[in-house]
Amino acid sequence: MVTGIGFGVDIGGSGIKGAQVDLATGELASERTKIPTPRSYDIDEVVQTVLDVVAKAGWEGPFGCTFPGIVKRGVLHSAANFGPHWIGLDLQTMLAERSGHEVHLLNDADAAGLAEVDFGAARGRDGVVIVTTLGTGIGSALFLDGKLVPNTELGHLEIDGAAAETRTSSAAKEREGLSYKEWAPRLQRYYAMLDFLFSPDLIVVGGGISRKSEKFLPLITGLRCEIVPAALENQAGIAGAAMALAEG
Ligand code: BGC
Repeated sequence: MVTGIGFGVDIGGSGIKGAQVDLATGELASERTKIPTPRSYDIDEVVQTVLDVVAKAGWEGPFGCTFPGIVKRGVLHSAANFGPHWIGLDLQTMLAERSGHEVHLLNDADAAGLAEVDFGAARGRDGVVIVTTLGTGIGSALFLDGKLVPNTELGHLEIDGAAAETRTSSAAKEREGLSYKEWAPRLQRYYAMLDFLFSPDLIVVGGGISRKSEKFLPLITGLRCEIVPAALENQAGIAGAAMALAEG
């Protein structure tokens, strides 16, 4: 087991958040520092904001960091909500050089999933587990017997000719002014698809809106697997980022 205090940063579409993390429990060990994501999505401005979050939190040292796109060995291979100018960027090296410390970069949903598997709703669960995050997009993390298969991008499964996340994310709910009851059939279709394609043993539903899970999870019915709310809500990304660095 990894112990000590680490630092995690979660780069999101609307905010960049960071905090110290107790690596033995996944709990945040400091206040969360949050700065809005620059609306320009300019690379330099976003990187500077990450460094500002770390500095404002008073952290000097290595940190884990998430990005809402495909991340392979520190390099971005997609950036659905940040724009194509991010693709191909070695963001991990850039953050390490600009901060002067080691950085571990990973997909945001993968980070949230790691935290849920180690400390949250999927703790101690074997078999196939899918953690999803409902937010600006839909993130996914796939686990087999607790081991992550990274970068699954299941929010981009196509439904009616478009990525599922465009109509089913919580941002889509907000954008279209849908009530929970109106949004639920879209969730039903999406989660039934995941259930059919992957036959998971457990689906965990995360993202900020998981705080209100009682309003929509009971409306998702007929799945062959259990579907439960995330336990760590919005702090999962920060915790998972810090843990990913610590666990190498
Ligand atoms: C991105 C994923 C990300 C998810 C949640 C999607 O649009 O493609 O990489 O995990 O949004 O932020």
